[in-house]
Amino acid sequence: MNIVIFGPPGAGKGTQSNLIVKNFKLHQLSTGELLRKEIREKTKLGNQISSIINSGNLVSDIIVGDLIEKYVSDKSFKNRLIFDGYPRNLNQAKNLNSILKNNDQKIDIVLKLSVSLQTIKKRISERKILEKRLDDNETVAIKRYEMYEKNIKPVIDFYKHSNLLKVVNGEATVSEISNEISGLIEGI
Ligand code: AP5
Ligand code: MG
Repeated sequence: MNIVIFGPPGAGKGTQSNLIVKNFKLHQLSTGELLRKEIREKTKLGNQISSIINSGNLVSDIIVGDLIEKYVSDKSFKNRLIFDGYPRNLNQAKNLNSILKNNDQKIDIVLKLSVSLQTIKKRISERKILEKRLDDNETVAIKRYEMYEKNIKPVIDFYKHSNLLKVVNGEATVSEISNEISGLIEGI
């Protein structure tokens, strides 16, 4: 089974992906985490993208597409992936479908976590104290939210048309959301 989970910054994609990994023995593929790792390790790619990420903009579709292709084509992850934060625009959604198809796979369910901007600001300001992510200040968080809003509508329509989309209330508690998601996955 392959799962897509998306939602605005601070929606709980990472939190819920971790729980899905535990409950269903899948592998989390967070494009944000992979990109931050490149920055931490000061790779060529990391140096190229750090200012883009830290200003809240999206990295190019080609860069993130190449990253996810590596995982999709790895047989040890076959039909065991959770895409956390990919796709973020229509081009990426189409690209994901074609990469999966080329590797004889498909998406089984798409989870959209909905949260308000007010909740996002609160969660990100709290996380900032613990994790020290450079993109976790209020200005950049708002920018990330705007980027999400600007690009996501066609992605939502794309998955609605394929009958894969499930909308989950991301304002509930972590365990309430996790229970709802587990029920949805078990229902596939
Ligand atoms: P990414 O790392 O994906 O950041 P994001 O989308 O802004 O989302 P976050 O990781 O901030 O939030 P989350 O939804 O994972 O929430 P979390 O579980 O941590 O991307 C970063 C950047 O990388 C992008 O801006 C872009 O530049 C680039 N990038 C990534 N993917 C890309 C792509 N596909 N294309 C182009 N560029 C890309 O929760 C947040 C906090 O809230 C935590 O502290 C958590 O403990 C808490 N929390 C979670 N759930 C709850 C709850 N239910 N109740 C109370 N608190 C909760
Ligand atoms: Mg995350």
